[in-house]
Amino acid sequence: MASYDSINNNNQARSPYGSGDPYYNESTGFISPPKAAKRGLSPWIKFGVPVLVLVIIGAVVGGVLGSRSSNKSDSSSSGSSSPATKTGEAAASAAASAKAQIGLFPTATDSQYMRPIYPSTTNTAAFTEPTITPSNNAALAWPEDPFKPSNPSVTNVREDRPRLLAPAYKWEALPNLIRNDPYLSSWNDTIFGNATTYFNAPPVRYFMDGDSGILDNAREIKMRIKAFAYAHRMTKDTRWVDRTWAELQNAVSSDFGPNNSTKWNPSHFLDAAELSAAFGIAYDWLHDMWTDDQRSQIRDNLITYGLSQGAAAYDGADFGWWRTNIQGNWNCVCNGGLTLASLAILGDDTTGTATKLLGQTVNNAKQNCAFGPSEDGSWSEGANYWYFGTTGHAEMASALITATGSHYGLLDTNPNFHLTGLYHMYVTGNTLFDYGDHGPNKFSTTANSMFLYADQYKQPEYALFQRDQHDAPEPWSMFWYDPSISGAFWNGLALDHSFDSASDQWVSMRSSWTDQNLLFVGMKAGTNQGHQTHNDLDVGDFVLDAMGTRWAGDLGSADYNSPQYFNSDAQDATRWRYYRKATEGQNTLLIGGVNQLVTARPTVKYQSSGTEQGSSTVFDVPSDSTAFWVTDMSSAYDQATSVKRGVRLLNARKQVLIQDEVNASAGIQWRMHTNATVATEGSTATLTIDGKTTKITILSPSSGFTLGTAPAARSSNDANASPPVSDQPNPTVTVLTIDLPAGNHNLQVLFNPQWPGMSDGDFKTPPSVPLDSWSLSSHN
Ligand SMILES: *[C@@H]1O[C@H](CO)[C@@H](O)[C@H](O)[C@H]1NC(C)=O
Ligand SMILES: *[C@@H]1O[C@H](CO)[C@@H](O)[C@H](O)[C@H]1NC(C)=O
Ligand SMILES: *[C@@H]1O[C@H](CO)[C@@H](O)[C@H](O)[C@H]1NC(C)=O
Ligand SMILES: *[C@@H]1O[C@H](CO)[C@@H](O)[C@H](O)[C@H]1NC(C)=O
Ligand SMILES: *[C@@H]1O[C@H](CO)[C@@H](O)[C@H](O)[C@H]1NC(C)=O
Ligand SMILES: *[C@@H]1O[C@H](CO)[C@@H](O)[C@H](O)[C@H]1NC(C)=O
Repeated sequence: MASYDSINNNNQARSPYGSGDPYYNESTGFISPPKAAKRGLSPWIKFGVPVLVLVIIGAVVGGVLGSRSSNKSDSSSSGSSSPATKTGEAAASAAASAKAQIGLFPTATDSQYMRPIYPSTTNTAAFTEPTITPSNNAALAWPEDPFKPSNPSVTNVREDRPRLLAPAYKWEALPNLIRNDPYLSSWNDTIFGNATTYFNAPPVRYFMDGDSGILDNAREIKMRIKAFAYAHRMTKDTRWVDRTWAELQNAVSSDFGPNNSTKWNPSHFLDAAELSAAFGIAYDWLHDMWTDDQRSQIRDNLITYGLSQGAAAYDGADFGWWRTNIQGNWNCVCNGGLTLASLAILGDDTTGTATKLLGQTVNNAKQNCAFGPSEDGSWSEGANYWYFGTTGHAEMASALITATGSHYGLLDTNPNFHLTGLYHMYVTGNTLFDYGDHGPNKFSTTANSMFLYADQYKQPEYALFQRDQHDAPEPWSMFWYDPSISGAFWNGLALDHSFDSASDQWVSMRSSWTDQNLLFVGMKAGTNQGHQTHNDLDVGDFVLDAMGTRWAGDLGSADYNSPQYFNSDAQDATRWRYYRKATEGQNTLLIGGVNQLVTARPTVKYQSSGTEQGSSTVFDVPSDSTAFWVTDMSSAYDQATSVKRGVRLLNARKQVLIQDEVNASAGIQWRMHTNATVATEGSTATLTIDGKTTKITILSPSSGFTLGTAPAARSSNDANASPPVSDQPNPTVTVLTIDLPAGNHNLQVLFNPQWPGMSDGDFKTPPSVPLDSWSLSSHN
């Protein structure tokens, strides 16, 4: 993954301030960051240290408290009973003070898959059910916004600044909240550390990345400006303002952008929108610091390169295609950027552009962006595009609320939008169930919309989940997070969930919410069209995590610059010739060697024991705890009369069975992509990664199959046409294959991760049960 460092690696540092720059060091090429304004030790030297200390204290205290309370109450870890006695004001109050003692719940957030690592402990005081508790937790509650227009209008903005996301009353309250809340305190430190890193880097260097345009540039600039403006407002040190100005100047300089008239690359409008947001935030958050001349320059640039291009998009320019029936991330990001920028300059803009745009963006986003999630909350463009879409949506909704007093329905015109937080939580195993395209770099794009949604939809578990994640520390979190919430997101949260909208059908099943070494299975059906051309031909695709490792994984995006990658999702689209997008590149059945049908309309069936985790981070799965999910995916295949696939958890969620019942007129190939080293013998494949082992055994049929391996690349006998350019290689990946001839088959594949402490005799061999007869107890 490219980082800001790698982009700037080969860049000669240059002074953004010109020859008179007082902070520029000619010999190192670096600019000195602002020094501590206060007495004593420079806070800059301590970056990282306070976080570390906090984390260690948190771990120690958490461990001590935890072992003490787990001695008392082992029963609290049996999750299915609702801990009713722990709810209510008193418990929430106790949870809040317990949190203050523990500090951050996780001991680290930078594990191999960037998941939080929780100490093994029960903490019945802190790990209560998620609760919002402003009334008895006043020290940690935000004050009410004094701006409450009785008749809100998109062009009637509050008088004080900032207007965008973080009004003055929040800045005033923030230092005290930081002192009282370990999460805010840790994030504040991290933001300052990040701001210092950006300060020392040269301004973002213009780079045109083919069809992806200058999106990385735009988002990196936005990420930096947020951090600089935050650091200035918290310290009043003007060097942050100067550094912001340098970044703004750079983004309009003669060597930035494809040419002088299209500097922000409106032909790929995301770029112009994200730069508009960046300039709008700079204008608004640092409004008091700019001279009249600087303000006028920022506005002029914003209007010339951003807003007037937005107006052209609304007047029908081709590059405004994202306005029309695009219920996905493009609509959210483009409308969001234009909205933030317009709100920022409203009143100062004498051209009328901002006013006019606000009359268009909000209604357009309500019809399109707001329907990015389908009725079950799934993001139609997949788990990674969820980040881009919800970031754009949350920024826009929040800016409208703070600047004008209403979101105008952006949050509730889609009555199921609130479910998209649930989607994000369930689509996360060791790492995401990342079917479809993965999207570009995530500069300034995070999952922190979860904080806004937690607050707006009164779903505290969204915030409790997100606050432990590695991408939580950034300025938006400081204002969206409600530190008065308490509890543990996992307490009372079901282990399984089936998302069943016809377009996105998929299932999430796991053994724990807090154990790095969980068992996690995601499997999908859904439609092969209607996902903004970000999906794959992948009905039946699955991922499997166990023992801290992903055993079956998705390949993700192919090269976005490949010819006709996004042009069409019709059956004959070029997109489906790329291996990573074709059925062959998925963990599903390939029949006749050809792609699935884009007209597929699978059906699904699901049952779960409904097991919930309790207060403990160590969850002992009850022996009858299970879930299964079956899809009839016959409609995805041209050369089969019937194709059904089922997945179920066995043996207290330690084993997994995948069963396929197929009647096909062409050869059938079962495929699974893995980073593991694979050895096959008879009916068993032994997979190893990092000294860990998973055994995969064919239980049925007993003969007539071929178990083997293949490279993760197009097969030479593939009947689909070749792509116009070579596929990207997948050098670490092996495909485990099971071939069956045309005909009627019941293929049962058993996954036995070799969990530490489990011996051969501890594994169960399930009975053979037809998919139509599966029930919660059919495999006991
Ligand atoms: C925020 O973090 C900075 C850098 O660590 C620190 O100097 C400052 O005191 C923190 N703010 C508060 C209110 O604690
Ligand atoms: C911000 O700082 C944290 C802590 O040092 C680091 O892990 C993270 O990568 C930084 N983020 C960026 C975007 O530089
Ligand atoms: C400026 O760049 C854009 C985008 O690359 C291009 O479409 C346009 O033709 C260019 N205009 C001029 C005058 O070069
Ligand atoms: C953009 O304008 C500047 C200043 O007028 C000029 O020096 C530069 O050559 C122009 N760049 C392009 C690509 O036309
Ligand atoms: C292989 O490992 C990489 C790095 O962890 C991961 O991103 C990818 O999804 C894995 N691929 C498969 C097929 O599991
Ligand atoms: C399989 O499909 C064929 C062709 O439709 C049909 O004749 C046959 O009866 C089916 N077999 C079974 C076992 O359903």
